[in-house]
Amino acid sequence: MKVVLSAGPKFMCAEAFNPDEDEEDKEPLVTYPKTDEQRQRLQEACRDILLFKNLDPEEMSQVLDAMFEKFCTEGEHIIDQDDDGDNFYVIESGTFNIFVKADGADKLVGCYDNRGSFGELALMYNTPRAATIIATSPGALWCLDRLTFRRIIVKNNAKKRRLYEAFIETLPLLTSLELSERMKVVDVISSKAFSDSQQIIAQGDLADCFYIVESGQVRITMKRSRTKKDQEEEEVDIATCSRGQYFGELALVTNKPRAASAYAVGSVKCLVMDVKAFERLLGPCMDIMKRNIANYEEQLVTLFGSSTEIEQQSA
Ligand code: CMP
Ligand code: CMP
Repeated sequence: MKVVLSAGPKFMCAEAFNPDEDEEDKEPLVTYPKTDEQRQRLQEACRDILLFKNLDPEEMSQVLDAMFEKFCTEGEHIIDQDDDGDNFYVIESGTFNIFVKADGADKLVGCYDNRGSFGELALMYNTPRAATIIATSPGALWCLDRLTFRRIIVKNNAKKRRLYEAFIETLPLLTSLELSERMKVVDVISSKAFSDSQQIIAQGDLADCFYIVESGQVRITMKRSRTKKDQEEEEVDIATCSRGQYFGELALVTNKPRAASAYAVGSVKCLVMDVKAFERLLGPCMDIMKRNIANYEEQLVTLFGSSTEIEQQSA
């Protein structure tokens, strides 16, 4: 049975971010019954969605219950920029282009390829849709209605703000951001725990996340041939990151595979941000990151006598 939501214009105004005072809790929870097969596909599609990572099991189960399936055709507009927000979308399959209006024309700013999610901004901040999303293949999406999104995800974000506000304020990387922008960073991050020696990043992999160390230490290593002729590689420690430091930005900035590997030393917790949020929110921090990337090159020259790896990576 489909429950028809009453998310009419009363939720569409630019209300302040204050989910604790919302009327929304009075509405009954929405449930779309699913077959075991559907639920399994849904769980798989939602596994890496960062916005869901901080939910407790009951909240996660409520979210999964409320999600419903939508199949789309090539060329279909899933979202039109400036519209009111109705749903948040998780991609199960399909490719989608992202367009943002610039100087009166739609500019292609990115795409989604069979994974990820979109449509959270209008629901989080009660703003019009910030981009147009068009399917470039047939696809399958899982949708979460506005009301449930606000009741569960936005409320959870308020909790997250209380938890991480002070830590985020101490990060030198984010000093170029306004306070409201730093809070948007908190809204999109999730905290991930790693056990001793666990690999966080593998050199050569494609990149989709950026990390800030919340606690513990992270070892950064790079594979190097022992000698110029030697084919055999050894893995050499090149840096250590501790609380407040970040890693995993290089591949996102250069659009290259990961330049190095990262491993947990002891128990580690990192704040994780996906590439789309990184691109959208951390533009003003790029100068600091680029200065640091220059330091990587010096670091490699000091360690190895050359910085060929990084030059290749950032060319
Ligand atoms: P929302 O504004 O609700 O609807 C459009 C969605 O496009 C937006 O949420 C984001 O999830 C997604 N999106 C992806 N890239 C961008 C971008 N560069 N600017 C704005 N929105 C983006
Ligand atoms: P990325 O290439 O995305 O993944 C590996 C990360 O290791 C890289 O981003 C940097 O954040 C980090 N790193 C630390 N020191 C270096 C270095 N000297 N060269 C390259 N990457 C480094």
